[in-house]
Amino acid sequence: MEYYEIVPIKRKTKFTKFLIGLITILSLLIVIIFFLSKEKLYEFQRDETYVVAKANKNNKTEKWGGLYKDKVKDLKSNNQIISNEKEEVEQKEIFIEEVNSLEPENLVSAENETDNMEVIPNEEEETNLATPNPIEEKISSEEDKNNFKRDLGQFEGKKLVAFTFDDGPNNETTNRLLDNLDKYNARVTFFVLGSRVNENAETLKRAYNMGNQIGSHTYNHKNLFKLNSTQIMEEITATNNEIKNIIGVEPTILRPPYGNINCEIRNIINMYTILWDLDTEDWKNKDANLIAEYILNNAHDGAIILLHDLYETSIDGALQAMEILEQEGYAFVTIDEMIELKNVELDKNISYHYFTD
Ligand code: NI
Repeated sequence: MEYYEIVPIKRKTKFTKFLIGLITILSLLIVIIFFLSKEKLYEFQRDETYVVAKANKNNKTEKWGGLYKDKVKDLKSNNQIISNEKEEVEQKEIFIEEVNSLEPENLVSAENETDNMEVIPNEEEETNLATPNPIEEKISSEEDKNNFKRDLGQFEGKKLVAFTFDDGPNNETTNRLLDNLDKYNARVTFFVLGSRVNENAETLKRAYNMGNQIGSHTYNHKNLFKLNSTQIMEEITATNNEIKNIIGVEPTILRPPYGNINCEIRNIINMYTILWDLDTEDWKNKDANLIAEYILNNAHDGAIILLHDLYETSIDGALQAMEILEQEGYAFVTIDEMIELKNVELDKNISYHYFTD
């Protein structure tokens, strides 16, 4: 009797194990599918300017979202977008033209800034600071709040590019960039991390007082798509406070980490969003010659160039490119200078990749 009792129990146990295994596998599948679809949702949430960014870089439109989704689909079905390599450049131009013409206002983007340096204040800093003991002053005086303004008339007829440097400030590397900007009559834009401001405060202050522009790159470099609105505001507010403590003013422009931004987030942050259209991928290749070559091959009037002032190679690449671009009639301006020269009124509902006249 015991034998017959034991067998069905064993079978039941096996069946239960099988069921548990099946449920586990199914659950895992559901979780994986959930995350995959969530990722797609993120892409989908991206706005019209993301479409243009993708078109600029890859001539592909598989990712789009927001207001222009249907319009981009129309363009696609009208064969405005094709994958034939020979016609790639031509088609890209048509596509960008089409998308631009659909927009209420022209696309714009740019930014710049540099910063860096801790020990020896240079002459221009001394002359630009209005306070008697600028180095000792941690918190800027009223006079400090106006950084050095350039006469923009000198850039009439020049092609303009905005060099922008993310993820700093960094005492070890940013200062060398600052040391060399005057050679090319250049000013740039820095998108700094709030978490790095304090330990690199003198560098940040030097950059600002030279006339470079300081923007926010958030506090902790988190993907804003993965934060709730309270967390997003914490990232923004904490960074703006850190920057204001050092240079006396809050930044007005933001570059979201990874370029991740959408309409919803833009409404929360209440800042101007500056992305880029030339991605040097300097953090990956760490090769000054490659970086310079990429910039020289892709530079155009109104371009915003993305670099990171954490790497010597990025600084070298930028300076090399400036040397040649200057001879080609380019001038190197901050985002604020660019928008003034291009006569653009920034709109908080738009992410800017480059600027047009
Ligand atoms: Ni970054």
